[in-house]
Amino acid sequence: MSRLAVLVPGGKGQVGSELSAILAARHDGLVHAPGSAELDITDREEVRDAVEAFAEAARDADLSPVVINTAAYTAVDAAETDPNSARQVNVAGPAALAEACRDGDLPLLHVSTDYVFPGDADRPYEPTDDTGPRTVYGRTKLDGEQAVLDSGARAWIVRTAWVYGAHGGNFVKTMARLAAQRDRLTVVDDQIGSPTWAADLAAGLLELAEPVAAGRGPAQRVLHCTNSGSTSWFEFARAIFTELGLDPQRVDPCTTADYPTKTPRPAYSVLSGNAWRDADLTPLRPWHDALREALTSNPEAFRPR
Ligand SMILES: NC(=O)c1ccc[n+]([C@@H]2O[C@H](COP(=O)([O-])OP(=O)(O)OC[C@H]3O[C@@H](n4cnc5c(N)ncnc54)[C@H](OP(=O)(O)O)[C@@H]3O)[C@@H](O)[C@H]2O)c1
Repeated sequence: MSRLAVLVPGGKGQVGSELSAILAARHDGLVHAPGSAELDITDREEVRDAVEAFAEAARDADLSPVVINTAAYTAVDAAETDPNSARQVNVAGPAALAEACRDGDLPLLHVSTDYVFPGDADRPYEPTDDTGPRTVYGRTKLDGEQAVLDSGARAWIVRTAWVYGAHGGNFVKTMARLAAQRDRLTVVDDQIGSPTWAADLAAGLLELAEPVAAGRGPAQRVLHCTNSGSTSWFEFARAIFTELGLDPQRVDPCTTADYPTKTPRPAYSVLSGNAWRDADLTPLRPWHDALREALTSNPEAFRPR
């Protein structure tokens, strides 16, 4: 296994924090995981300087450099009313990173989303399936993927879905909070996806980073990576209650029509792991096992309050 130097733009987000934690615990390479205040990916000059400085530090330490971009504008509803900001972060930012990586001959892993698909399939989406985003967030993420690939950088796109982690806001934390505030909850039962623990995704990204940093495999590729299996938000909520030692019967199902959101949510978001397996990467464990470990390994972060 080669020793890695990893630059993680968006390093203070859900996925970025987990990447940073795993790499710091390994003690065998170099990790730089700046938040947006330290590295704003929409600032081309800043990106170029940061990537060049990182590449030089990696060279000096005789490490294989790789950039893993977890920075994104992820507020799905807010993107509808502020599309320019979403576009800057989700398209111009990844483009700037990819160009800097291309010019410095560094590989880039770029994290993307199930929202690039229309969400109306009846079988898991393959990376090669037609896209068709229905939201500003999804459109900007898809355009960001394209900008990364068009740059000519050695770049792998990794789409994921339904992410939760110890850092930042997410569905698991919302359920834990609402459980402490309300007797009963109603959660949609007709939207299907694969809940994905940020720590498992981070480990998957690092497994992929090894061959990519070593120059093995194709120069560009799109993969999907989520915890395995699928469920509805309702069933996921009941599982969260169960794992928190709460009565799952306090959660009732409803339909999307009963609970309209400003922005449409995909009815079906399951991403196939076939291409991930074909690339000789380890499939992520079933989503319920991951949920159990997330809640037991970090009870403070998910405690009902
Ligand atoms: N969350 C999900 O359910 C989900 C599902 C599918 C795909 N994804 C994808 O997974 C990736 C990681 O998502 P996440 O859940 O970790 O998101 P997150 O917790 O919202 O983190 C995103 C990070 O991006 C940073 N950021 C925003 N604007 C930036 C800028 N101009 N320059 C640099 N950094 C900037 C933010 O940093 P500051 O907070 O420091 O401003 C934030 O910490 C994203 O590509 C997202 O599209 C997420």
